[in-house]
Amino acid sequence: MAKKIRLGVLGGGGDSLIGVLHRVASHINDNYQIVGAVFNPDFEANMAFAKEIDVPTNRIYTDFDTMVEEELKLPEEERIQVCAILTPNFLHFPMAKKLLENGFHVICEKPMTTTYEEAKILQATWERAGTVFAVTHTYTGYPMVRQMREMIKAGALGKIHKVDACYYQGWINTIIHDKEKRSSVWRLDPKKAGISSCMGDIGVHAFNMIEYTTGLQVKTLLADFNYLYEDNKMDVDGTVLIRMGDHVKGLIRSSQVATGEENGLAINIYGEKAAFRWEQERPNFLYRLSDTEPAQVYKPGHAYNSKLSLEGTKLPPGHPEGIFDAMANIYLGVARAIRGENYNDGEFPTMQDGVRGLNFIEATVESNKQGNVWVSMDA
Ligand SMILES: NC(=O)c1ccc[n+]([C@@H]2O[C@H](COP(=O)([O-])OP(=O)(O)OC[C@H]3O[C@@H](n4cnc5c(N)ncnc54)[C@H](O)[C@@H]3O)[C@@H](O)[C@H]2O)c1
Repeated sequence: MAKKIRLGVLGGGGDSLIGVLHRVASHINDNYQIVGAVFNPDFEANMAFAKEIDVPTNRIYTDFDTMVEEELKLPEEERIQVCAILTPNFLHFPMAKKLLENGFHVICEKPMTTTYEEAKILQATWERAGTVFAVTHTYTGYPMVRQMREMIKAGALGKIHKVDACYYQGWINTIIHDKEKRSSVWRLDPKKAGISSCMGDIGVHAFNMIEYTTGLQVKTLLADFNYLYEDNKMDVDGTVLIRMGDHVKGLIRSSQVATGEENGLAINIYGEKAAFRWEQERPNFLYRLSDTEPAQVYKPGHAYNSKLSLEGTKLPPGHPEGIFDAMANIYLGVARAIRGENYNDGEFPTMQDGVRGLNFIEATVESNKQGNVWVSMDA
Protein backbone atom coordinates (compact mmCIF):
# COMPACT_ATOMS: atom_id res chain seq x y z
CA MET A 1 0.00 0.00 0.00
CA ALA A 2 1.40 3.38 -1.02
CA LYS A 3 1.90 5.95 1.72
CA LYS A 4 -0.99 8.29 2.41
CA ILE A 5 -1.20 11.52 0.46
CA ARG A 6 -0.48 14.55 2.64
CA LEU A 7 -3.57 16.76 2.56
CA GLY A 8 -3.81 20.43 3.55
CA VAL A 9 -7.20 21.99 4.29
CA LEU A 10 -8.21 25.64 3.84
CA GLY A 11 -11.54 26.58 5.42
CA GLY A 12 -13.91 23.77 6.31
CA GLY A 13 -13.71 24.54 10.03
CA GLY A 14 -16.06 23.24 12.69
CA ASP A 15 -18.43 26.11 11.87
CA SER A 16 -18.66 25.22 8.19
CA LEU A 17 -21.14 23.28 6.11
CA ILE A 18 -18.84 21.46 3.72
CA GLY A 19 -15.77 20.72 5.86
CA VAL A 20 -17.09 17.47 7.30
CA LEU A 21 -17.94 16.14 3.83
CA HIS A 22 -14.37 16.62 2.64
CA ARG A 23 -12.78 15.29 5.82
CA VAL A 24 -14.85 12.13 5.87
CA ALA A 25 -14.57 11.65 2.09
CA SER A 26 -10.80 12.01 2.16
CA HIS A 27 -10.60 9.18 4.71
CA ILE A 28 -13.09 6.77 3.15
CA ASN A 29 -10.66 5.03 0.80
CA ASP A 30 -7.68 5.35 3.16
CA ASN A 31 -5.70 7.50 0.75
CA TYR A 32 -5.20 10.79 2.59
CA GLN A 33 -4.02 12.18 5.88
CA ILE A 34 -4.62 15.79 6.93
CA VAL A 35 -1.20 17.15 7.90
CA GLY A 36 -1.73 20.92 7.85
CA ALA A 37 -4.55 23.44 7.78
CA VAL A 38 -6.06 26.86 8.16
CA PHE A 39 -9.56 25.73 9.05
CA ASN A 40 -10.61 29.16 10.19
CA PRO A 41 -9.28 32.74 9.91
CA ASP A 42 -9.48 33.02 13.71
CA PHE A 43 -6.33 31.30 15.00
CA GLU A 44 -7.83 30.25 18.32
CA ALA A 45 -10.82 28.66 16.65
CA ASN A 46 -8.45 27.09 14.12
CA MET A 47 -6.30 25.50 16.84
CA ALA A 48 -9.29 24.43 18.92
CA PHE A 49 -10.80 22.65 15.94
CA ALA A 50 -7.51 20.95 15.05
CA LYS A 51 -7.31 19.59 18.61
CA GLU A 52 -10.93 18.47 18.47
CA ILE A 53 -10.37 16.37 15.35
CA ASP A 54 -6.86 15.32 16.28
CA VAL A 55 -4.82 17.05 13.59
CA PRO A 56 -1.28 17.85 14.88
CA THR A 57 -1.21 21.53 15.85
CA ASN A 58 2.40 22.18 14.76
CA ARG A 59 1.17 22.65 11.19
CA ILE A 60 -1.95 24.67 11.95
CA TYR A 61 -1.18 28.09 10.52
CA THR A 62 -2.41 31.61 11.24
CA ASP A 63 -3.28 32.21 7.59
CA PHE A 64 -2.95 30.86 4.07
CA ASP A 65 0.20 32.82 3.07
CA THR A 66 2.03 31.62 6.18
CA MET A 67 0.96 28.07 5.41
CA VAL A 68 2.47 28.18 1.92
CA GLU A 69 5.64 29.88 3.16
CA GLU A 70 6.20 27.39 5.99
CA GLU A 71 5.30 24.30 3.99
CA LEU A 72 7.80 25.25 1.28
CA LYS A 73 10.53 25.20 3.92
CA LEU A 74 9.80 21.53 4.65
CA PRO A 75 11.48 18.72 2.72
CA GLU A 76 9.32 17.62 -0.19
CA GLU A 77 8.59 14.22 1.36
CA GLU A 78 6.98 15.92 4.39
CA ARG A 79 5.30 18.82 2.63
CA ILE A 80 1.55 19.04 1.92
CA GLN A 81 0.96 17.50 -1.52
CA VAL A 82 -2.60 18.55 -2.19
CA CYS A 83 -4.71 21.32 -0.68
CA ALA A 84 -8.50 21.34 -0.39
CA ILE A 85 -9.94 24.86 -0.71
CA LEU A 86 -13.22 24.97 1.22
CA THR A 87 -13.51 28.68 1.96
CA PRO A 88 -16.15 31.16 0.76
CA ASN A 89 -15.91 31.68 -3.00
CA PHE A 90 -13.83 34.88 -3.23
CA LEU A 91 -10.82 33.11 -1.70
CA HIS A 92 -10.75 30.21 -4.18
CA PHE A 93 -8.90 32.07 -6.94
CA PRO A 94 -6.05 33.67 -4.96
CA MET A 95 -5.52 30.49 -2.96
CA ALA A 96 -5.65 28.11 -5.93
CA LYS A 97 -3.38 30.32 -8.04
CA LYS A 98 -0.71 30.57 -5.37
CA LEU A 99 -0.88 26.85 -4.62
CA LEU A 100 -0.47 25.95 -8.30
CA GLU A 101 2.39 28.42 -8.71
CA ASN A 102 4.15 26.68 -5.85
CA GLY A 103 3.71 23.14 -7.15
CA PHE A 104 0.82 21.91 -5.00
CA HIS A 105 -2.05 19.80 -6.31
CA VAL A 106 -5.46 21.39 -5.66
CA ILE A 107 -8.96 20.19 -4.82
CA CYS A 108 -11.16 23.29 -5.12
CA GLU A 109 -14.76 23.83 -4.14
CA LYS A 110 -17.15 25.29 -6.69
CA PRO A 111 -17.63 27.84 -8.08
CA MET A 112 -13.95 27.59 -8.93
CA THR A 113 -13.49 31.39 -8.98
CA THR A 114 -15.78 34.41 -8.85
CA THR A 115 -15.27 35.52 -12.48
CA TYR A 116 -14.75 33.85 -15.85
CA GLU A 117 -11.64 35.97 -16.34
CA GLU A 118 -10.13 34.56 -13.12
CA ALA A 119 -11.06 31.05 -14.23
CA LYS A 120 -9.14 31.48 -17.48
CA ILE A 121 -6.12 32.88 -15.63
CA LEU A 122 -6.24 29.91 -13.28
CA GLN A 123 -6.41 27.53 -16.22
CA ALA A 124 -3.28 29.09 -17.73
CA THR A 125 -1.53 28.87 -14.34
CA TRP A 126 -2.50 25.20 -14.03
CA GLU A 127 -1.27 24.41 -17.56
CA ARG A 128 2.14 25.80 -16.58
CA ALA A 129 2.11 24.02 -13.21
CA GLY A 130 1.30 20.54 -14.50
CA THR A 131 -0.17 19.46 -11.16
CA VAL A 132 -3.53 17.79 -10.51
CA PHE A 133 -6.56 20.07 -10.20
CA ALA A 134 -10.09 18.99 -9.32
CA VAL A 135 -13.31 20.96 -8.79
CA THR A 136 -15.68 19.26 -6.39
CA HIS A 137 -18.91 18.96 -8.31
CA THR A 138 -19.81 16.34 -5.75
CA TYR A 139 -22.77 14.83 -7.56
CA THR A 140 -20.62 13.49 -10.41
CA GLY A 141 -19.24 11.07 -7.82
CA TYR A 142 -22.49 9.12 -7.46
CA PRO A 143 -22.27 5.66 -9.07
CA MET A 144 -25.61 6.02 -10.84
CA VAL A 145 -24.66 9.41 -12.30
CA ARG A 146 -21.50 7.79 -13.60
CA GLN A 147 -23.58 4.91 -14.97
CA MET A 148 -25.85 7.38 -16.75
CA ARG A 149 -22.80 9.06 -18.32
CA GLU A 150 -21.33 5.79 -19.51
CA MET A 151 -24.63 4.47 -20.92
CA ILE A 152 -25.31 7.72 -22.77
CA LYS A 153 -21.77 7.59 -24.18
CA ALA A 154 -22.50 4.03 -25.39
CA GLY A 155 -25.65 5.24 -27.17
CA ALA A 156 -28.38 4.06 -24.76
CA LEU A 157 -30.60 7.07 -25.46
CA GLY A 158 -29.84 7.53 -29.14
CA LYS A 159 -29.97 11.14 -30.22
CA ILE A 160 -30.67 13.38 -27.22
CA HIS A 161 -33.35 15.98 -27.82
CA LYS A 162 -34.33 17.38 -24.42
CA VAL A 163 -32.58 17.92 -21.09
CA ASP A 164 -34.18 19.19 -17.90
CA ALA A 165 -32.06 19.73 -14.80
CA CYS A 166 -33.53 21.10 -11.63
CA TYR A 167 -31.79 22.17 -8.43
CA TYR A 168 -34.29 23.40 -5.86
CA GLN A 169 -33.52 24.41 -2.28
CA GLY A 170 -35.60 26.48 0.12
CA TRP A 171 -33.17 27.47 2.87
CA ILE A 172 -32.79 31.13 1.86
CA ASN A 173 -36.46 31.65 2.70
CA THR A 174 -35.48 31.80 6.35
CA ILE A 175 -33.09 34.67 5.57
CA ILE A 176 -34.24 36.59 2.51
CA HIS A 177 -37.46 38.02 3.96
CA ASP A 178 -35.63 39.76 6.82
CA LYS A 179 -33.71 42.87 5.73
CA GLU A 180 -31.00 42.53 8.36
CA LYS A 181 -30.49 38.82 7.84
CA ARG A 182 -30.27 39.08 4.08
CA SER A 183 -27.36 41.51 4.34
CA SER A 184 -25.42 39.27 6.73
CA VAL A 185 -24.84 35.97 4.89
CA TRP A 186 -21.83 35.62 2.57
CA ARG A 187 -23.79 33.83 -0.14
CA LEU A 188 -25.83 37.04 -0.67
CA ASP A 189 -22.77 39.32 -0.56
CA PRO A 190 -21.27 39.90 -4.05
CA LYS A 191 -17.87 40.65 -2.51
CA LYS A 192 -17.69 37.16 -1.03
CA ALA A 193 -19.88 35.02 -3.27
CA GLY A 194 -19.26 36.62 -6.69
CA ILE A 195 -21.87 37.90 -9.12
CA SER A 196 -24.52 35.27 -8.46
CA SER A 197 -26.04 33.43 -5.54
CA CYS A 198 -28.45 30.88 -6.96
CA MET A 199 -26.70 30.19 -10.29
CA GLY A 200 -23.24 30.43 -8.74
CA ASP A 201 -24.01 28.18 -5.80
CA ILE A 202 -26.33 25.51 -7.19
CA GLY A 203 -27.35 26.27 -10.77
CA VAL A 204 -23.73 25.60 -11.69
CA HIS A 205 -24.01 22.04 -10.29
CA ALA A 206 -27.07 21.40 -12.49
CA PHE A 207 -25.21 22.83 -15.49
CA ASN A 208 -22.20 20.62 -14.75
CA MET A 209 -24.40 17.54 -14.41
CA ILE A 210 -25.92 18.15 -17.84
CA GLU A 211 -22.56 18.49 -19.55
CA TYR A 212 -21.05 15.61 -17.52
CA THR A 213 -23.78 13.12 -18.29
CA THR A 214 -24.57 14.02 -21.92
CA GLY A 215 -21.05 14.82 -23.10
CA LEU A 216 -22.65 17.77 -24.93
CA GLN A 217 -21.92 21.44 -24.34
CA VAL A 218 -24.38 24.26 -23.76
CA LYS A 219 -23.95 26.66 -26.67
CA THR A 220 -26.47 29.42 -25.98
CA LEU A 221 -28.73 30.28 -23.07
CA LEU A 222 -31.42 32.67 -21.89
CA ALA A 223 -31.85 33.34 -18.17
CA ASP A 224 -34.61 34.86 -16.06
CA PHE A 225 -33.68 35.60 -12.43
CA ASN A 226 -35.65 36.55 -9.36
CA TYR A 227 -34.04 38.70 -6.65
CA LEU A 228 -37.25 39.02 -4.60
CA TYR A 229 -36.25 42.38 -3.04
CA GLU A 230 -34.91 45.64 -4.56
CA ASP A 231 -32.06 45.86 -2.03
CA ASN A 232 -30.96 42.25 -2.63
CA LYS A 233 -28.11 42.23 -5.14
CA MET A 234 -28.05 38.48 -5.72
CA ASP A 235 -30.32 36.12 -7.61
CA VAL A 236 -32.10 33.60 -5.39
CA ASP A 237 -34.03 31.89 -8.16
CA GLY A 238 -33.53 31.48 -11.87
CA THR A 239 -34.75 29.60 -14.91
CA VAL A 240 -32.40 29.12 -17.85
CA LEU A 241 -33.35 27.94 -21.32
CA ILE A 242 -30.45 26.18 -22.98
CA ARG A 243 -29.53 25.04 -26.50
CA MET A 244 -26.88 22.38 -26.86
CA GLY A 245 -26.84 21.94 -30.62
CA ASP A 246 -29.19 21.32 -33.50
CA HIS A 247 -32.54 20.31 -32.02
CA VAL A 248 -31.07 19.66 -28.57
CA LYS A 249 -32.79 21.99 -26.15
CA GLY A 250 -33.58 22.09 -22.50
CA LEU A 251 -33.70 24.02 -19.27
CA ILE A 252 -32.03 24.48 -15.92
CA ARG A 253 -34.37 25.35 -13.07
CA SER A 254 -32.63 26.54 -9.95
CA SER A 255 -33.93 28.08 -6.76
CA GLN A 256 -32.96 28.82 -3.17
CA VAL A 257 -36.49 29.95 -2.31
CA ALA A 258 -38.38 26.84 -3.42
CA THR A 259 -40.20 26.52 -0.14
CA GLY A 260 -39.81 23.18 1.57
CA GLU A 261 -37.24 21.86 -0.91
CA GLU A 262 -34.06 20.52 0.67
CA ASN A 263 -31.37 19.44 -1.78
CA GLY A 264 -33.58 18.74 -4.77
CA LEU A 265 -31.15 18.19 -7.59
CA ALA A 266 -32.70 16.13 -10.38
CA ILE A 267 -31.83 15.47 -13.98
CA ASN A 268 -33.94 14.15 -16.85
CA ILE A 269 -32.41 13.40 -20.22
CA TYR A 270 -34.71 12.46 -23.08
CA GLY A 271 -33.45 10.77 -26.25
CA GLU A 272 -34.97 9.15 -29.28
CA LYS A 273 -34.66 5.59 -27.83
CA ALA A 274 -35.18 6.14 -24.09
CA ALA A 275 -34.79 8.60 -21.22
CA PHE A 276 -32.89 8.71 -17.91
CA ARG A 277 -34.14 10.18 -14.67
CA TRP A 278 -31.97 10.59 -11.55
CA GLU A 279 -32.66 12.43 -8.29
CA GLN A 280 -30.03 13.37 -5.72
CA GLU A 281 -32.28 12.69 -2.75
CA ARG A 282 -32.71 9.09 -3.99
CA PRO A 283 -29.26 8.64 -5.52
CA ASN A 284 -29.18 4.86 -5.76
CA PHE A 285 -31.92 4.60 -8.38
CA LEU A 286 -31.37 5.43 -12.03
CA TYR A 287 -34.59 5.20 -14.02
CA ARG A 288 -34.63 4.29 -17.68
CA LEU A 289 -37.92 5.31 -19.28
CA SER A 290 -39.26 4.15 -22.62
CA ASP A 291 -42.39 4.66 -24.71
CA THR A 292 -42.53 0.98 -25.69
CA GLU A 293 -41.03 -0.99 -22.79
CA PRO A 294 -41.61 -1.08 -19.04
CA ALA A 295 -39.53 1.40 -17.00
CA GLN A 296 -36.26 -0.07 -15.66
CA VAL A 297 -34.35 0.76 -12.51
CA TYR A 298 -30.55 0.52 -12.42
CA LYS A 299 -28.92 0.25 -8.99
CA PRO A 300 -25.30 0.47 -7.79
CA GLY A 301 -22.90 -2.41 -7.31
CA HIS A 302 -24.41 -4.81 -9.85
CA ALA A 303 -22.15 -6.36 -12.45
CA TYR A 304 -24.28 -4.84 -15.23
CA ASN A 305 -22.92 -1.41 -14.36
CA SER A 306 -19.93 0.20 -16.09
CA LYS A 307 -16.37 0.11 -14.72
CA LEU A 308 -16.57 3.82 -13.82
CA SER A 309 -19.76 3.20 -11.84
CA LEU A 310 -18.60 -0.04 -10.19
CA GLU A 311 -15.35 1.50 -9.02
CA GLY A 312 -17.49 3.98 -7.11
CA THR A 313 -19.18 1.38 -4.91
CA LYS A 314 -17.50 -0.34 -1.99
CA LEU A 315 -20.19 -2.71 -0.71
CA PRO A 316 -22.44 -5.29 -2.38
CA PRO A 317 -25.80 -4.15 -3.84
CA GLY A 318 -28.40 -3.11 -1.31
CA HIS A 319 -26.01 -1.31 1.05
CA PRO A 320 -26.94 2.32 0.37
CA GLU A 321 -24.03 4.68 -0.18
CA GLY A 322 -24.55 8.42 -0.27
CA ILE A 323 -23.02 11.85 -0.56
CA PHE A 324 -19.94 11.07 1.56
CA ASP A 325 -19.19 8.19 -0.80
CA ALA A 326 -19.81 10.37 -3.87
CA MET A 327 -17.23 12.89 -2.64
CA ALA A 328 -14.92 10.01 -1.67
CA ASN A 329 -15.05 8.80 -5.27
CA ILE A 330 -13.79 12.20 -6.42
CA TYR A 331 -11.00 12.04 -3.82
CA LEU A 332 -10.16 8.54 -5.03
CA GLY A 333 -9.77 9.74 -8.62
CA VAL A 334 -7.57 12.61 -7.47
CA ALA A 335 -5.42 10.21 -5.43
CA ARG A 336 -4.90 8.02 -8.48
CA ALA A 337 -3.95 11.05 -10.57
CA ILE A 338 -1.52 12.33 -7.93
CA ARG A 339 0.12 8.91 -7.72
CA GLY A 340 0.42 8.74 -11.49
CA GLU A 341 -1.89 5.69 -11.64
CA ASN A 342 -4.40 5.03 -14.39
CA TYR A 343 -7.82 6.51 -13.74
CA ASN A 344 -11.07 6.64 -15.65
CA ASP A 345 -12.17 9.60 -17.70
CA GLY A 346 -14.84 11.33 -15.60
CA GLU A 347 -13.45 10.22 -12.25
CA PHE A 348 -13.15 13.78 -11.02
CA PRO A 349 -14.32 17.14 -12.40
CA THR A 350 -11.42 19.04 -13.90
CA MET A 351 -10.15 22.56 -14.49
CA GLN A 352 -12.12 22.52 -17.75
CA ASP A 353 -15.34 21.92 -15.77
CA GLY A 354 -14.44 24.81 -13.48
CA VAL A 355 -13.88 27.14 -16.43
CA ARG A 356 -17.15 26.05 -18.10
CA GLY A 357 -18.93 26.69 -14.79
CA LEU A 358 -17.77 30.30 -14.62
CA ASN A 359 -18.57 30.82 -18.30
CA PHE A 360 -22.11 29.57 -17.52
CA ILE A 361 -22.58 31.73 -14.41
CA GLU A 362 -21.45 34.91 -16.19
CA ALA A 363 -23.54 34.14 -19.27
CA THR A 364 -26.70 33.70 -17.18
CA VAL A 365 -26.08 36.97 -15.30
CA GLU A 366 -25.45 38.77 -18.60
CA SER A 367 -28.57 37.32 -20.22
CA ASN A 368 -30.73 38.35 -17.28
CA LYS A 369 -29.19 41.83 -17.11
CA GLN A 370 -29.71 42.48 -20.83
CA GLY A 371 -33.43 41.78 -20.44
CA ASN A 372 -33.53 37.98 -20.80
CA VAL A 373 -31.81 37.68 -24.15
CA TRP A 374 -29.98 34.74 -25.77
CA VAL A 375 -26.26 34.76 -24.90
CA SER A 376 -23.54 32.51 -26.34
CA MET A 377 -21.14 30.50 -24.26
CA ASP A 378 -17.59 30.02 -25.50
CA ALA A 379 -16.91 26.80 -27.41
N1 LIG B 1 -19.70 20.73 -3.56
C1 LIG B 1 -20.81 21.03 -2.93
O1 LIG B 1 -21.80 20.35 -3.08
C2 LIG B 1 -20.83 22.20 -1.98
C3 LIG B 1 -21.79 22.27 -0.96
C4 LIG B 1 -21.73 23.35 -0.06
C5 LIG B 1 -20.76 24.33 -0.22
N2 LIG B 1 -19.86 24.25 -1.26
C6 LIG B 1 -18.82 25.27 -1.45
O2 LIG B 1 -17.88 25.17 -0.38
C7 LIG B 1 -17.39 26.46 -0.04
C8 LIG B 1 -17.63 26.68 1.44
O3 LIG B 1 -19.01 26.63 1.68
P1 LIG B 1 -19.60 26.38 3.15
O4 LIG B 1 -21.07 26.29 2.99
O5 LIG B 1 -18.85 25.29 3.82
O6 LIG B 1 -19.24 27.77 3.82
P2 LIG B 1 -19.25 28.09 5.38
O7 LIG B 1 -19.47 29.56 5.49
O8 LIG B 1 -20.16 27.16 6.08
O9 LIG B 1 -17.74 27.74 5.83
C9 LIG B 1 -16.64 28.45 5.35
C10 LIG B 1 -15.41 28.07 6.17
O10 LIG B 1 -14.28 28.78 5.66
C11 LIG B 1 -13.58 29.36 6.77
N3 LIG B 1 -12.85 30.53 6.30
C12 LIG B 1 -13.34 31.76 5.97
N4 LIG B 1 -12.33 32.58 5.62
C13 LIG B 1 -11.19 31.85 5.71
C14 LIG B 1 -9.82 32.15 5.50
N5 LIG B 1 -9.42 33.37 5.12
N6 LIG B 1 -8.90 31.17 5.72
C15 LIG B 1 -9.30 29.93 6.13
N7 LIG B 1 -10.58 29.62 6.36
C16 LIG B 1 -11.51 30.55 6.16
C17 LIG B 1 -14.66 29.65 7.78
O11 LIG B 1 -14.11 29.80 9.08
C18 LIG B 1 -15.52 28.40 7.65
O12 LIG B 1 -14.96 27.34 8.41
C19 LIG B 1 -18.13 27.45 -0.94
O13 LIG B 1 -17.31 27.80 -2.02
C20 LIG B 1 -19.35 26.69 -1.42
O14 LIG B 1 -19.79 27.09 -2.70
C21 LIG B 1 -19.90 23.18 -2.11
